[in-house]
Amino acid sequence: MQKQTYSDAIALLKADHRTVEGLFEKFESARSGQKQAIAVQICNELKIHTTIEEEIFYPALQGRIEDETYSEAYVEHDGAKLLINDIMAAAEPDEFFDAKVKVLGEEIRHHVKEEEMRSEGMFAQAREAGVDLVDLRDRMIARKQELTMAAKAGDLPPAEMRVVSV
Ligand SMILES: [Fe+2]
Repeated sequence: MQKQTYSDAIALLKADHRTVEGLFEKFESARSGQKQAIAVQICNELKIHTTIEEEIFYPALQGRIEDETYSEAYVEHDGAKLLINDIMAAAEPDEFFDAKVKVLGEEIRHHVKEEEMRSEGMFAQAREAGVDLVDLRDRMIARKQELTMAAKAGDLPPAEMRVVSV
């Protein structure tokens, strides 16, 4: 992953969003035998993405964007993680498997909209606040590389809840 590929942190996060959207579409049209592998790919992508946001991007925005936008992002992530961990734990797809992946896709679509919305979205607020988006990009790329290696080795732990208790 080259830093030059992304102009800043927002470009990196948006590219992740497009990757995941593409995978959800692939899941929809896949044959049943391929679905579980695609679902695992979706969940790993989302685990990595939510981790770099929660560890690096969101903390840099705390107090610099609207509190509501900041708090809701954490709650939405934790909501999605319930399904992510459930989908990852499935030994094989059961009758609710497709529905879980579909609902996860709907949750993510909503969350992405909240982040990318023009003017009021989280990314627009971050730009407005003047946070150092290039430094954040570099830190997120470094962390993403570590997590991607862990995912490839099958060592990515279940997604950790930050604000919702289960
Ligand atoms: Fe997010």
